[in-house]
Amino acid sequence: MSQPTSATPIANAARRHFAKSFGGDPSLVVSAAGRVNLIGEHVDYNGGEALPIAIQRRTAIAIRRKDGEKVTRINSGGTGGVLKIDHARLARRRKWTDYPAGVLDQLIGAGVDVPGLEVAVASDVPSGGGLSSSAALEVAFDFAVRSLLGLDTEPLALALECQRAERDFVGVPCGAMDQASAACGRAGHALHMAFSPLAVRAVPFAEPILVIDTAVPRSLRGSAYAVRVQECAVALDAIRRVASGVTALAAATLDQVEAAVMPDAPRRRARHVVSECARVRQAVAALELGQPFPGALALASHESLRADYECSSPALDWVVDFAMRQPGVNGARLTGAGWGGCAIAFGSREALLALEEALPASFQQAIGHAPRTWLVTADDGARVEG
Ligand code: GLA
Repeated sequence: MSQPTSATPIANAARRHFAKSFGGDPSLVVSAAGRVNLIGEHVDYNGGEALPIAIQRRTAIAIRRKDGEKVTRINSGGTGGVLKIDHARLARRRKWTDYPAGVLDQLIGAGVDVPGLEVAVASDVPSGGGLSSSAALEVAFDFAVRSLLGLDTEPLALALECQRAERDFVGVPCGAMDQASAACGRAGHALHMAFSPLAVRAVPFAEPILVIDTAVPRSLRGSAYAVRVQECAVALDAIRRVASGVTALAAATLDQVEAAVMPDAPRRRARHVVSECARVRQAVAALELGQPFPGALALASHESLRADYECSSPALDWVVDFAMRQPGVNGARLTGAGWGGCAIAFGSREALLALEEALPASFQQAIGHAPRTWLVTADDGARVEG
C-alpha cells in the first residue's frame, strides 16, 4: 500500500464535499482503485487464478472523527445529502451506504470501538459498470477508518475484510478479486492472484488498455451471478464423486470435468473455469518473458465466457467483434462479471486511440445508445492522498 502521493482531482473533490458537508478540513484523505481484470473471470470463487490491474478510476474518502454519538455521517456529494449510519443499528437498506455499513459491521464485529465519523466520498469509478465501484468504496472506507484509528492496514487482510462485508452484509456471494485489486494495486504492474488462500504477486505490465463501457447497467445482486456460484458448486460435487481429492473447481482437470456425471450447464461452467485458469497461467508466463499480453488468450476467454459461462451480452459481443476489426488491436474480451458492463481491448496505444475514436458512432447505430470509453494503465491500490 502506497505512501502519500500528490492529491488527485478525485481526492480534491472529496475534500470539497467534506468542507461543504461538515465544515473545515478532514483529518485524512485516502483513495482506492476500480479494477479491470485482464484475464481470469469467474475463477476467484472457484479457488483459481486471475490477473487484474487497479486503474486510474478511483474512489476517495475524506474522514474526520466526531466524538459523541456513534454514528457515521456520510455524503457522496449526490442529491441524497448527508446520510446517517447508526453503529448500533446497522441494517441493509439496499443502497450505496450498505457498503460502508457492511465494513462498519465487520469492524465492530471484530471488536473495534468505532467512534462517530464524518465522511465525504467522491468517485469517478462508474457505478454498476463492471469496474468494481463497490469494492473501491468498501476498501477506501475501510482503509480510511483503519488509518484514522491507527489500526493495521495490511492490504490482503483489508481485502478479505471487505469481501466479508460484501458477502455477509450486502449479500453478494463474490470472490476476493475486486477487493484485492482495490487494496493491492501497483502502478505499472498487473496482479497475479491466487485465491485459496488469497495471495497477490505483482507482474510488470505497462500496456495501455481501452475500457469500453456498454452502458448497459448490471447489478450483481439482481444478476445470474449467484446462480453461477451455485452451478459451480454442483459441478464440484459431481467431480468429487469421481476424484475425491479435488477441493476446488479450479483444481480439476478437463478430463475430470468430462468424466463426472452432471447436467450440461454445470459441466460447461466447469469447463470455463478450468480452461480459464490455464489461460491465466499462459498470460502470466508471457508477461514474465517481457512479451505483450497475448491477445489470442483474451479472445479465447471471451468465447468461453460467451458460450460456456453464458455471461456475455449482445453489446459486449458486438464490442469484441468491432475491436478486432481495428488494425493493431490484438485482443478483446468482456471484463468483470459480465451480463453488461465493460469490455477491454489490447493493442498499441495508437490502435487503441483509433478504436476509441471509431467505436462510438457505430456502437450508437448498432446498440442504440452511446458507450463510454477510457484509456487506462495499471495504477496503485489503496493509498493516502497528499
Ligand atoms: C465480480 C465479482 C468478482 C468476480 C468477478 C468475475 O466482479 O465481484 O469476485 O467473481 O465478478 O470474475
